[in-house]
Amino acid sequence: MAEVVIVGSAEDAGQVAADAIEHLVRANPRAVLGLATGSTPLTTWRALAARGLDLSQVRGFALDEYVGLPAGHPESYRSVITREVVEPLGLTPELVRVPADSGPIETAGADYEAAIEAAGGVDLQILGIGRTGHIGFNEPGSSFASLTRVKTLTEQTRIDNARFFDSPEDVPRHCVTQGLGTILRARHLVLLAFGAAKAAALAGAVEGPLTASLPGSAIQLHPRVTVIVDEAAASELQHADYYRYAWEHRLPWERL
Ligand code: PGA
Repeated sequence: MAEVVIVGSAEDAGQVAADAIEHLVRANPRAVLGLATGSTPLTTWRALAARGLDLSQVRGFALDEYVGLPAGHPESYRSVITREVVEPLGLTPELVRVPADSGPIETAGADYEAAIEAAGGVDLQILGIGRTGHIGFNEPGSSFASLTRVKTLTEQTRIDNARFFDSPEDVPRHCVTQGLGTILRARHLVLLAFGAAKAAALAGAVEGPLTASLPGSAIQLHPRVTVIVDEAAASELQHADYYRYAWEHRLPWERL
């Protein structure tokens, strides 16, 4: 079962996630981080940046990228990762990969899988969850065994992401995303969610049946998952009281 940590705010969640990353990087300065874009991970990146750790040897793999944006577009996930993660955290740009960042699109998936494998796999993967239940850009119907590949975004996801673009029509229809199978290979999953709009998808992911119709439910197959949520995102969890109790009474040696 996922360990569910219910906190008071997105800022508090960022501190808890940053604790897990700091612990990992202090033990292994060359750790491999799975990076996520979107609004959700921002408090984690801010909390981590404030700690002033030397992250220059950390390797990074982004979850996903749009297909079809011109190179250097400010909303391409390469640009977003550079602006929001690489620069503030002091990562080394050459050690951070984004899907489809080199070579032809036809082989981008296989290339990315090979690069992750060559790095020794992802140690800790940061995840958000979309209202459709997607993790990465694995929209409903994605196979639990899927690997990095081109996907078509749902209209809901395009509408949700339109806030980053001048007009909803500018949001690309396609992406390259790590698959659910790729994500499940990471050694530790840290999923964050904030706000009531995420409550149904979050409850489905943590407590609902395993189903490709709610891709986030794939996390139930993973032996080490930490879910960090605010009260609004936790509002549809049936076992919230137990999660609070377990967190309050965690043993001193238990780490995230
Ligand atoms: P958000 O997106 O963090 O911008 O809410 C999360 C997601 O779509 O995975």
